Amino acid sequence: MFVSRTTVGWEALAPAKLNLYLDVLGRRADGFHELEMLMCPVRLFDQLRWTSNDRAEIHFTEGESTERFRFSVAGTDVPSDETNLAMKAAHLLAAEAGVEPYGSLSLTKRIPTQAGMGGGSSDAAATLQLLNQAWGVNYSKQRLTGLAAQLGSDVPFFFAGGPAVCRGRGEILQPQSGLPKLHFVVVKPDESISTKEAFMQLNAGQFDPQKSEGREKPLERLLELLRNGMLTAAAKAMSNSFQSVILASQPILASLQAQMTALNSWGATMTGSGSAFFGLCGTAQQARHLAGKLRAVLEDGSRAGAKHEFGEGHYLRGKTPR
Ligand code: C5P
Repeated sequence: MFVSRTTVGWEALAPAKLNLYLDVLGRRADGFHELEMLMCPVRLFDQLRWTSNDRAEIHFTEGESTERFRFSVAGTDVPSDETNLAMKAAHLLAAEAGVEPYGSLSLTKRIPTQAGMGGGSSDAAATLQLLNQAWGVNYSKQRLTGLAAQLGSDVPFFFAGGPAVCRGRGEILQPQSGLPKLHFVVVKPDESISTKEAFMQLNAGQFDPQKSEGREKPLERLLELLRNGMLTAAAKAMSNSFQSVILASQPILASLQAQMTALNSWGATMTGSGSAFFGLCGTAQQARHLAGKLRAVLEDGSRAGAKHEFGEGHYLRGKTPR
């Protein structure tokens, strides 16, 4: 997350994330699941802006209570009401710090929704950090991370400032240093998946919470491979508990994964509860090359505005080949 001052207010960039590893260890008494994940921020950003209004000016407009705090969303059809996690974050911070906000918060979406790329969670984390500065609240990172955990399981991760192992519901963070800069190609198909439904599918299937016990430690092995720059082996050591369940129920995604694997021998892994898939590449050049090949096979890869590229990898959006 990057927060900066602008001529009219404050601005924050909220990165997307990928799950390089996701293991569902079991179901807890509170209904949530115990997780073990390796998450990594990637250079695809939503943008948040805060502009303060002059309180006196607002005071004389009608309907002061609704005019006082405005929230808008551009770039996608996600809601701009109380159900939006960024809006929830703004209200939580205002209530906690006793601030009466006068101004407008706007969100420009670039991270696809229901993709497993953490867009909503990242927006919430960036909102907390942005408004913490804009409103002069000055809470510590630790206190903000505590508020983040109240908003959603993946929100605290975005305060780690880099790749992190996340345990518990996702809120117990262990930042990881010494990992190399990685290059990915990410494909978000038209199909979308809700996290809640993915957990329900997992529980309805053959998921056995005990299966993880007594196994080798695949996450430690993955971290070691990444640290040693053994990327071919690292790509193969990436895994996701949701993947086989989602692939079994959505053959269209299985076909996407097969296409990606055919073009990139390092394979393709689903992020979060889907539906985006990513392939690890050795260099930026390799990522560009793979992105080009994938564009050629994805049905609407040439559609104007459908392609996005970002610094450390490539993000493609398109219809799954049938
Ligand atoms: O925490 P968050 O609101 O993002 O979670 C969304 C849904 O995903 C929860 O309602 C729950 O069904 C499921 N979930 C879970 N275990 C987790 C995280 C999320 O069961 N560790």
